[in-house]
Amino acid sequence: MSDGLFLIYARASNGVIGNKGSIPWHIPADLKRFKALTMGQENRGLPMIMGRKTFDSLPGLLPARRHIVLTRDSDWQAEGAEIAHSVGEALDLAGAGEVAVIGGAEIYDLFLPLAQRIELTDIHAEFEGDAHMHPLSGEEWEVILREDHHARDDQPAYSFVTLERAQ
Ligand SMILES: NC(=O)c1ccc[n+]([C@@H]2O[C@H](COP(=O)([O-])OP(=O)(O)OC[C@H]3O[C@@H](n4cnc5c(N)ncnc54)[C@H](OP(=O)(O)O)[C@@H]3O)[C@@H](O)[C@H]2O)c1
Repeated sequence: MSDGLFLIYARASNGVIGNKGSIPWHIPADLKRFKALTMGQENRGLPMIMGRKTFDSLPGLLPARRHIVLTRDSDWQAEGAEIAHSVGEALDLAGAGEVAVIGGAEIYDLFLPLAQRIELTDIHAEFEGDAHMHPLSGEEWEVILREDHHARDDQPAYSFVTLERAQ
């Protein structure tokens, strides 16, 4: 396990996290929370680990944060991306301290066993999609914070949940 490594994701109640390379809902408060959590303390900006498909889905580089991108393609490169070809290489690039794993599904599966904390946005609605996260085991993960938000306008109800690995 890696101290300070956390996963951050939003998941619909049927497990969907993405559809055709994008996220199938728009919740501005979730984007704001994502920014705050990936900027970290004193807005220093955390290293973020992501899959090549998630990197491609970003609207552009996210200011002040490092983009460590996992790919199996030895020729792949992109401006602003630090390239890793394995979990170990990604962790070495990230270094010590807080590290945010920002998706997608393949990359969450790889890093879940190493995470101490999960910052989940639990969306209380089902969505159509092709990228999924399985539910977390209540034996392995303990909820330490939960903030519920009602549905309004075109937004579903959702909860911001912080989980820590149970001792
Ligand atoms: N709801 C959320 O919070 C959230 C967050 C992030 C993303 N998403 C969504 O999730 C979807 C993308 O997820 P995804 O699972 O399809 O793709 P992904 O996890 O973003 O990226 C997969 C890619 O990562 C690389 N990779 C995977 N395992 C590797 C390994 N062991 N070593 C080296 N490279 C490895 C490969 O890149 P190459 O093909 O280049 O080899 C693979 O194609 C999109 O719809 C996105 O919008 C949702």
